[in-house]
Amino acid sequence: MRIEGKEYRTIWFEKNIVKIIDQTKLPHKFIIKDLKTIEDAINAIKVMEVRGAPLIGATAAYGLVLSIIQNNDQSFLKRSAENLINSRPTAINLKWAVDRMMNKMSGVNSDKILDIAINEAKEICEEDIKFCENIGLNGLKIIEKIYNKKKNTVNILTHCNAGWLATINWGTATSPIYHAHKKGIPVHVWADETRPRNQGANLTSYELNEEGVNNTIIADNTGGILMQRGEVDMCIVGTDRTLANGDVCNKVGTYLKALAANDNNIPFYVALPSSTIDWNIKDHKDIPIEERNSEELSHMEGLDEKGDVKKIQIYPRKSKAMNLAFDVTPAKYVTGLITEKGVCEASEKGLKELFK
Ligand code: MRU
Repeated sequence: MRIEGKEYRTIWFEKNIVKIIDQTKLPHKFIIKDLKTIEDAINAIKVMEVRGAPLIGATAAYGLVLSIIQNNDQSFLKRSAENLINSRPTAINLKWAVDRMMNKMSGVNSDKILDIAINEAKEICEEDIKFCENIGLNGLKIIEKIYNKKKNTVNILTHCNAGWLATINWGTATSPIYHAHKKGIPVHVWADETRPRNQGANLTSYELNEEGVNNTIIADNTGGILMQRGEVDMCIVGTDRTLANGDVCNKVGTYLKALAANDNNIPFYVALPSSTIDWNIKDHKDIPIEERNSEELSHMEGLDEKGDVKKIQIYPRKSKAMNLAFDVTPAKYVTGLITEKGVCEASEKGLKELFK
């Protein structure tokens, strides 16, 4: 997708270096960063220079490529894989990508392993782009249906950033929106700010602006009253891990939006590529929920009056703060899952029909 009119992907590989857009600097600065070592890749995931389930997976895949370039040794590679998997716990795509890479490389001679790893990491990225594009085409039909009935701008609420910046291109939740916009269907997005890291404001609104999609940032607690006022036609969010029973783990606050949508009879859709499905965990209580540093709550970054980026403390110095990063929306509140293979019911039956 475009930034200042130029097409980008979120990650690419050039002359043995992995290039990323440093998302900790957005929206105030657009910086392309080089990842040269496995440690660089792990750090980029941990501090969220890259984030979003599919992009974390792709970065992990390229992290293993960097690991081989650094030290083409099996035990080093195994340690790199373990460290990558432990770098962020909730998004399943991380483990999915590492397992896929390690399976592909198992039993391969050391002189061939680098080429195999590079090809597989590229394949993971290409596949994600294709899947996200298909999610867009499948979700477009839902937006079109609402538009054909309403004959007016379709208002879509989204939470966090499940946009192209969270994937390689297109995004998951944003892909149907971009497809609708390209088709000339008038859409307007309510972007939840998404405290504490403000991915909705800093990333979703930013990328929608760059693509010319009409959007408004709202405080996280505003969605409910907008739904009561009839100003939300549908919600589309992403997910970091979807269980086989259709329960959806996503950025904290998603659950509350789903409850409000349910109370107001507003369709609540979740968009995901199949790499985000966890077929093993049966009970959502077993999903590892990331708890991040409370400083993400107590401090904020922004531009001062001179236009310089400044970090300030906003909480009382003596106050404690707690920062759970994800929550789980039970399947019963999810109208449908928009996947690369089609839209299905959020249930084991629905998912199994699409992914036999
Ligand atoms: O903590 P983040 O920014 O990595 O969380 C991202 C989300 O929760 C997204 O909604 C999810 O990864 C889906 S991305 C297509």
